Amino acid sequence: MVKAVVLGAAGGIGQPLALLLKANPLVTELGLFDIVNTPGVAADLSHIATPAKVEGYLPADDGLAKALKGADVVVIPAGVPRKPGMTRDDLFKINAGIIKDLATGIAKAAPNAFVLVISNPVNSTVPIVAEVFKKFGTFDPKRLFGVTTLDVVRASTFVSEILGDLSLSKGVVVPVVGGHSGVTIVPLLSQSTHALPSSLDKSAYDALVNRIQFGGDEVVKAKNGAGSATLSMAYAGAEFAAKVIRAVRGEKGLVTPTYVNLSADAEGASDLTKELGEELAYFSANVELGVEGVVKISPLGKISEDEATLVKAAIPELAKNIQTGVTFVAEAY
Ligand code: NAI
Repeated sequence: MVKAVVLGAAGGIGQPLALLLKANPLVTELGLFDIVNTPGVAADLSHIATPAKVEGYLPADDGLAKALKGADVVVIPAGVPRKPGMTRDDLFKINAGIIKDLATGIAKAAPNAFVLVISNPVNSTVPIVAEVFKKFGTFDPKRLFGVTTLDVVRASTFVSEILGDLSLSKGVVVPVVGGHSGVTIVPLLSQSTHALPSSLDKSAYDALVNRIQFGGDEVVKAKNGAGSATLSMAYAGAEFAAKVIRAVRGEKGLVTPTYVNLSADAEGASDLTKELGEELAYFSANVELGVEGVVKISPLGKISEDEATLVKAAIPELAKNIQTGVTFVAEAY
């Protein structure tokens, strides 16, 4: 029995994400919460012939607590998306408050749930959730994840495009580490399961890295004011949620990059910190998942000189983003 809950379920990401979770045979209950439209989304999805029982909730009558009751996995795509010209950090002012309120609801109604944060800026919203949980004494770093899977999905797609065969994309695995915005997104292409063509020159390599880092901008521009990635994000969010659900149900050996608090695995984190040469509280690394959530945080391992330069550029930006989230909660109480 797995209850999954989506907070922000009526949105551009929330609706297709809810659809994909409804299609996941391991999900037996699906709670949908938003400030608008969830009864309609829930009624629609409830006609799909899969096991999950679907309920929609609005804020009235303690809807958030009701949606969260008994939740095993909570996925959060609530908040505003980018418009052209905006960075993810520009969203902070609005989304920080939304995330703080939702985290408070989770701490009260579902303190043991696994929490998967999609809302941007992920580098700061994950620390916000952690700080709120600390206030309520419910923080377990093994159960909190920033969803960076879309960067991994994009890397797989763009690398297979370069290899000239999109049918490879599902099998192309590129660890993408660091964080989830601009220069903090660090693809470790030297560790790709599929080597890049030896004919790929430095400028083509740089263009590929840039495309993985700023792939979200392509979508924001193409949507021309109508938002950012929703369908690819829903796909990525559902993939990550499915991995967490499989791990929680006992499957072993599932490893994927995700943005976590490094105290979740002190031993793994100390190796990573040595490699980074800097203490960061959060980082996206290859993480092994298990019944309790984070089992192991992997160090970067062998990386190229170009990748070491990218990691170096990511660190100060990440440190700043993390502090922004921590300060927001400190000032809110
Ligand atoms: P959207 O505007 O289409 O949907 C957001 C939904 O959140 C709306 O239905 C809105 O009613 C709801 N909402 C607002 N305040 C709420 C509250 N207090 N409680 C519950 N629900 C609330 O936006 P979209 O496109 O779905 O994006 C959502 C977030 O995901 C944005 O912050 C966006 O930047 C982020 N995102 C993250 C990605 C990632 O890779 N982690 C990729 C793409 C987007």
